[in-house]
Amino acid sequence: MTDSPTPTGSAPQGADAEALRQRALAALLTARERTALLTDSVDDHELTAQHSPLMSPLVWDLAHIGNQEELWLLRGVAGREAMRPEIDGLYDAFEHPRATRPSLPLLAPAEARAYAADVRGRALDVLDGTALDGGRPLVRDGFAFGMIAQHEQQHDETMLITHQLRSGPAVLAAPVPPAPTDAAGLPAEVLVPGGPFTMGTSTEPWALDNERPAHVRDVPGFFIDTAPVTCRAYQEFIEDGGYTEQRWWAPEGWAMVREHELAAPLFWHLDAGQWLRRRFGVTEAVPGNEPVLHVSWYEADAFARWAGRRLPTEAEWEKAARHDPVSGRSRRYPWGDEDPAPELANLGQRHLRPAPAGAYAKGRSPYGVRQLIGDVWEWTSSDFLPYPGFSAFPYREYSEVFFGPAHKVLRGGSFAVAPVACRGTFRNWDLPVRRQIFSGFRTAREI
Ligand code: AVJ
Ligand code: FE
Repeated sequence: MTDSPTPTGSAPQGADAEALRQRALAALLTARERTALLTDSVDDHELTAQHSPLMSPLVWDLAHIGNQEELWLLRGVAGREAMRPEIDGLYDAFEHPRATRPSLPLLAPAEARAYAADVRGRALDVLDGTALDGGRPLVRDGFAFGMIAQHEQQHDETMLITHQLRSGPAVLAAPVPPAPTDAAGLPAEVLVPGGPFTMGTSTEPWALDNERPAHVRDVPGFFIDTAPVTCRAYQEFIEDGGYTEQRWWAPEGWAMVREHELAAPLFWHLDAGQWLRRRFGVTEAVPGNEPVLHVSWYEADAFARWAGRRLPTEAEWEKAARHDPVSGRSRRYPWGDEDPAPELANLGQRHLRPAPAGAYAKGRSPYGVRQLIGDVWEWTSSDFLPYPGFSAFPYREYSEVFFGPAHKVLRGGSFAVAPVACRGTFRNWDLPVRRQIFSGFRTAREI
């Protein structure tokens, strides 16, 4: 258990009210710094442009971040009146699909910035004046503040995806992540013996509704890759005719390959026999030892079948990440209960790429699995479904309306996710055709 507040992690269990307030404040400020970096690094034309029909204009994300903060912290927690009721509809993600957002009468960049800053000023006053120990579920343990910091950071990842999709010269730069020192000696896979483990959480204060409640799952033994699948391994699949042989593909995946003439991950192209990729405005050789990025669920599923393996289920992934076979307890992260730190995982857009496979030895799980948290989101074989006893909180549109077989679960977070929005229990989801997200995978097999 952590007892000292760290600026970016999730709230620990049992922290006192003042520590929670400091933690909520730090989480909100950290998120806003990232939002500013992502929106100040391009001009107004680029802020309002649509870089891909899959994404909103960046200026929509900016005002939507402010609008959600107004909705939950000013109206929800403090019971205030709407500041600008006429804009609520514009920034409701369910009213307007992403592709149509550029044609809406959105707030212009200067107005959007001023609105988000105005909301923030008032939200910090609300934080100052609200008791976080006890009370309504929305404010207990600072939940609403943690939820809004996570929401902003989720949009910061979305905005980084928009940056990756935009054309033109690079505007973002970051140092390269650390290389592993002992990768050569690592086993390709590790055994996770069969038996029950606790999945999900009932005690993590800022866990979102879909991570709750904790429940016991019996998971038969399996083998799982020590590290995510690399670009080099994925290239072997391509060179072995991976994209030309129907037998590796789920029917809908094969249809997607044919329709869009897919032959490689998104952002890859062949140049004189060499694979190159475009990454945040820079074209570079595909790095063989880096986890593969920008693959759809269908591509991950096809690779696994080609390799004579399969994707892990969501429960297998979480057991490999959280279960401590010595204590029998599920922990917050693969390395234990302490908040993420730079030597444990590649999170928070500190690096704008995954670390080479096998990095972050200190962040490994008790079974010896590496890079479960950070680097690349990992596709699992599982549909996004509620846990037994699920109850939507505080709004159905966060998770509940997405439950069902249309969405597949991703786990672990990418280099683009902030620590506050990433835990061993955190569940992400997307359509199985999506590949603009920072998605990769690892494989598993039966014993
Ligand atoms: C959990 C990443 C799928 O971006 O669609 C943001 C998060 N929900 N605003 C998304 C979210 C509402 C969500 N994902
Ligand atoms: Fe949102």
